[in-house]
Amino acid sequence: MNKLEQLREMKEELVLGGGQKSIDKQHANGKLTARERINLLFDENTFVEMDTFVKHRCHNFDMADKKAPGEGVVTGYGQVNGRLVFAFSQDFTVLGGSLGEYHANKIVKVQEMAMRMGAPIVGMNDSGGARIQEGVTALSGYAKIFYNNTIASGVVPQISVIMGPCAGGAVYSPAITDYIFMVDKTSQMFITGPQVIKTVTGEEVTAEQLGGAMTHNSISGNAHQIAANDEDAIAQVRELLSYLPSNNLETAPEVPTSDDINRMIPELNEIIPDNPNKAYDMYQVITAIVDDGKFFEIMPHYGKNIITGYARINGASVGIIANQPKFGAGCLDINASDKAARFIRNCDAYNVPLLTLEDVPGFLPGTAQEYGGIIRHGAKLLYAYAEATVPKVTIVLRKAYGGAYIAMCNKELGADLVLAWPTAQVAVMGASGAANIVFKNDIKNAEDPAAKRQEKIAEYEEAFNNPYRAAELGYVDDVIEPATTRQRIASGLDMLKSKRQSLPAKKHGNIPL
Ligand code: HXC
Repeated sequence: MNKLEQLREMKEELVLGGGQKSIDKQHANGKLTARERINLLFDENTFVEMDTFVKHRCHNFDMADKKAPGEGVVTGYGQVNGRLVFAFSQDFTVLGGSLGEYHANKIVKVQEMAMRMGAPIVGMNDSGGARIQEGVTALSGYAKIFYNNTIASGVVPQISVIMGPCAGGAVYSPAITDYIFMVDKTSQMFITGPQVIKTVTGEEVTAEQLGGAMTHNSISGNAHQIAANDEDAIAQVRELLSYLPSNNLETAPEVPTSDDINRMIPELNEIIPDNPNKAYDMYQVITAIVDDGKFFEIMPHYGKNIITGYARINGASVGIIANQPKFGAGCLDINASDKAARFIRNCDAYNVPLLTLEDVPGFLPGTAQEYGGIIRHGAKLLYAYAEATVPKVTIVLRKAYGGAYIAMCNKELGADLVLAWPTAQVAVMGASGAANIVFKNDIKNAEDPAAKRQEKIAEYEEAFNNPYRAAELGYVDDVIEPATTRQRIASGLDMLKSKRQSLPAKKHGNIPL
């Protein structure tokens, strides 16, 4: 056999991974193979594989005789939407995608190259975890990956896709990355599995209940998106990457649009109900404002009282944070604060301007919130907005009460531009609550307490339940017709394009975690 034939033969064998039987099993389980996933992620014919020939050097148990093509992980680089991206994709058909020393080394290599080249890295996780036969070398491999995840954080976007089991400390690599996508029904993440839980606590729970995609998307908040299958997950990753720059020194690529930036939106003039206690759907506002109505939501199933996600205005990426009056009246609570704070920091790290749509009645009262540490969690939101140096535009649609008014990025917290609709109410609290406290004695001593109460509510509303007091004092830059919102945001973001702001030199801040 000549050398060329030998090379071809070796490569042909290697790309088969664990062999046809294992591939068939993978397909029967509703999962694609590592290479099929890679091929979907990258633009056609752009993926370049590296380290295909790497082998483990474990001799424990029967490992000396065990072949592990590609060491159970496919690594390399290619183009996504025409831009350089690095990736690794664990091959479950090879020793269950388990992570040994050299499997880890392959991942570490692409992580370091991604950082050096200033390109995003996507990790597709489908693995039985630390390779049991290897012991401590496997654990040290994980540690190197966690270390690199941390060093790369805020330098290049890191995206994890969970496409199979992800158990034990292995979940911490995805957890350190910027975004986690999970495939419904075929992926799980947990620190300790159902059997260990049963032994230790007696609880009975299935793997899906414990760490399935919906569990992490709706209950724990560990994951940011759920996908119907592998194809859907990868399509979502490609879309997310389109909103992000390649690294922290760049801005996201602009996507030309035919959506007129001067487009008037008359329906927004009517969207706020007359009754301040009535809800409306903030999604309608978002999709009306952004280019072509296109919104890529982050964490749609968690903390639904706040909406976070990416869109474009005049072709440029923008990160949207919006209270949702339809859920919990749009109150801020622990989950909403955590969700929004993390999103804001992601946007700031990658130079994506922030657009805040505010309609917030306050922080959610109650012992569950106080004991759960709403003070600490709410503080994250204040901190994240205040430290963000990207352009920040805030639109006050309706309620902007108390601490929550500040926490949704008011002027003094660092908003560059604050615009209010005529329906805005910038006040310490709602008129009804205010009347009960400030005018308690007037109401109590009145001949007709109910009438007095209404009179005092009206007085308070007159004074504060509008945007004009705030506008008179310059806390609001302008009161605008809702129909002009898209145009005003577009012109504001255009003005802010050259924004330069640097923070005092420090080792790092100390966000309340
Ligand atoms: C070595 C492993 C492996 C592992 C699976 N395999 N996990 N080999 N180390 N961790 C092998 C299996 O022996 C099998 O080999 C093949 O992969 C496919 O596995 P199956 O069990 O047949 O597949 P399935 O029924 O789909 O079950 C998948 C699974 C199960 C749920 C992942 O294999 C499992 O529970 N594995 C162990 C998970 C685990 O406890 N890992 C350690 C976590 S702790 P053959 O040769 O039969 O095809 C950890 C610490 C990280 O990771 C710490 C970081 C700080």
